[in-house]
Amino acid sequence: MYSLPNLDITESFNKVAVMTSGGDAPGMNPAIRAIVRTANKAGIEVIGIHRGFQGLIAEEFETLNSRSVSHTVQGGGTLLKSARCPAFHDPDVRTRAADILTKHHIDALIVIGGDGSLAGAHLLTTEHQIRVLGLPGTIDNDICGTDDCIGFDTAVNTAVQAIDKIHDTAISHDRHFLVEVMGRKCGMIAAHVGIACGAELVLLPEHPLDFKDISIQLSENRKAGFSSSGIIVVAEGQGPDLTHRLAEEMRSIGEDPRVCILGHIQRGGAPSSHDRILASTLGNISIHYLLAGYQDVLVGVSNGSVTTTPLSEVIGCQKQLTSDLIRIIEELER
Ligand code: F6P
Repeated sequence: MYSLPNLDITESFNKVAVMTSGGDAPGMNPAIRAIVRTANKAGIEVIGIHRGFQGLIAEEFETLNSRSVSHTVQGGGTLLKSARCPAFHDPDVRTRAADILTKHHIDALIVIGGDGSLAGAHLLTTEHQIRVLGLPGTIDNDICGTDDCIGFDTAVNTAVQAIDKIHDTAISHDRHFLVEVMGRKCGMIAAHVGIACGAELVLLPEHPLDFKDISIQLSENRKAGFSSSGIIVVAEGQGPDLTHRLAEEMRSIGEDPRVCILGHIQRGGAPSSHDRILASTLGNISIHYLLAGYQDVLVGVSNGSVTTTPLSEVIGCQKQLTSDLIRIIEELER
């Protein structure tokens, strides 16, 4: 459990809206449930906006209540559906969105999503004085201002479970498997999955290895008498087709690797207990932050405590892997 701030009530609200936006992430449902239940107990009505900013401009609204979010905590995906909304780059579309929120007497909007979604929320505040809060919802865990994101833990567990199965066949056939995991430009998923599945090598955008390094490593392993098999985790953010190109290069030095792109399996499935607790905590506290007058911030976690960071500092910021994490990967690689 996380340490929570002591917050005084300084504001009152009649109606709050919530949306999930961008790539879905396991744990979005427990976050929505916590927002709805906490708000309703404080006498606040909650409007669920379907399909993120797309649904906002199409006015796809639904009133949510404590009963309508029953039995959702264990569900993957998002009950509000999600979408990416390139149209939101257009200032006129944002003006329309703000007018719609005002027309529906919505006092505040909570956006659960990744960097692009938080950027959209921030613009609604700076351009139209809409009160917004952001919750970090992305499997990539690439958002600055929070140690953790809703969905990351589940995605890592899903990838590790899949790779454990791949590992069985890798060992049985004395083969290497290059397994590509998601994460956009950030190697957070790959780094954690690599450690947890005992990867022979982990290829991260933040810790690049070129093919020469890899072939030296593989031939040293062979000379040292290690079986020529195991898992090489590749972060997708290293560039298009890198995983297949590496496999080709490995074939040229006599290896017989297989490629497995894990893909969207990493976004689905029931949220882990960790993500349910994180999402429930952030959903709950976000209503308390609104009542305490906070706006235009990301509600996240840092060193076991719930924190807020101005969205202006979060958007466009490149989250770094810690040097400790990279050191562990390097020292555990073979
Ligand atoms: O941001 C989440 C994520 O799953 C990334 O890891 C991945 O690069 C991207 O979304 C895939 O997006 P889409 O589902 O739109 O193809």
